[in-house]
Amino acid sequence: MDDLREKWLAAVAGAGDEAALEAVRVAALGKKGEISAQMRELGRMTPEERKEAGPRLNALKDEINAAIAAKKTALADAALEERLRTEWLDVTLPARPQRMGTVHPIAQVTEEVTAIFADLGFSVAEGPQVESDWHNFDALNIPGHHPARAEMDTFYMARPEGDTRPPHVLRTHTSPVQIRSMEAAGAPLRVICPGRVYRADYDQTHTPMFHQVEGLAIDRDISMANLKWVLEEFVKAFFEVDAVELRFRASHFPFTEPSAEVDIRCSWQGGTLKVGEGDDWLEILGSGMVHPKVLAAGNIDPAAWQGFAFGMGIDRIAMLKYGIPDLRAFFESDLRWLRHYGFASLDVPTLHRGLSR
Ligand code: PHE
Repeated sequence: MDDLREKWLAAVAGAGDEAALEAVRVAALGKKGEISAQMRELGRMTPEERKEAGPRLNALKDEINAAIAAKKTALADAALEERLRTEWLDVTLPARPQRMGTVHPIAQVTEEVTAIFADLGFSVAEGPQVESDWHNFDALNIPGHHPARAEMDTFYMARPEGDTRPPHVLRTHTSPVQIRSMEAAGAPLRVICPGRVYRADYDQTHTPMFHQVEGLAIDRDISMANLKWVLEEFVKAFFEVDAVELRFRASHFPFTEPSAEVDIRCSWQGGTLKVGEGDDWLEILGSGMVHPKVLAAGNIDPAAWQGFAFGMGIDRIAMLKYGIPDLRAFFESDLRWLRHYGFASLDVPTLHRGLSR
């Protein structure tokens, strides 16, 4: 009995892993194991012999079982220890830099424009891109027969057959947001309205979808002088220069009277556009004093209130500021182009930190 005890306790102690331990258990206590065979021998003993050997054999069986259980726990602990030793992680290491993508120049410029006009006291208004015929045209003093409708190369939405109401349009400019802002807030009013607009047109400086920002200021005695000052302040802040030359050209829009188109002095050198110098002019916006009929359409009394409005091409001023020669590249989603012209995602433009840094 003592030999058996020594032999099997040594075998348990020597098992190197769980599989070896299980083999020891089967060899000792399994159906055909040595201890089990001894248990069967009890049957052939005399009652006196059995009385003496039975409890000792049972005690040995329990002792081996307990040794196996203890060894099992020790092996599991050692395995965990080993895993913890090899699978460690240094949480104090600096983070690995990851490419997060870039901010598109149009988004960047929209943010820049918004920051500048917010500083001048303008709030931001938005309107739908699928617009009613009335908001896009009639309310802006462009009646059904007006040639401006044809000039705008409008995209029309479908109407169910038999529906004779004028179809909705993809807004051809941000000017309908003038009407919506007047309807919603009344006078006095100072808003800018950035957003997408649509016209069926496609070449180096025209795409079927592009971006405008509308400006509208209404008060008792707003004049063209205020318009000129606001635009000059804007252009200087936007291009981050002390002086930029603007040219106001008399023009015509149905919704303003008088009207002016504004060009900015620039040069094209080796395909790069530079602002503030050179012999070229690039048109960046249309503007004027809000037509009395437009004020009336927005439920504002034209006898008591007046104001200026402008509509500026966001894509145009983005091309100018960042030297982007072809408008179409904005909408091609070419990753290499975006990495070159894009902006770091966490640099939000503000006036006090510098717009584009
Ligand atoms: N809506 C005009 C355009 O898209 C621009 C404009 C806006 C002109 C406001 C005057 C006043 O061309």
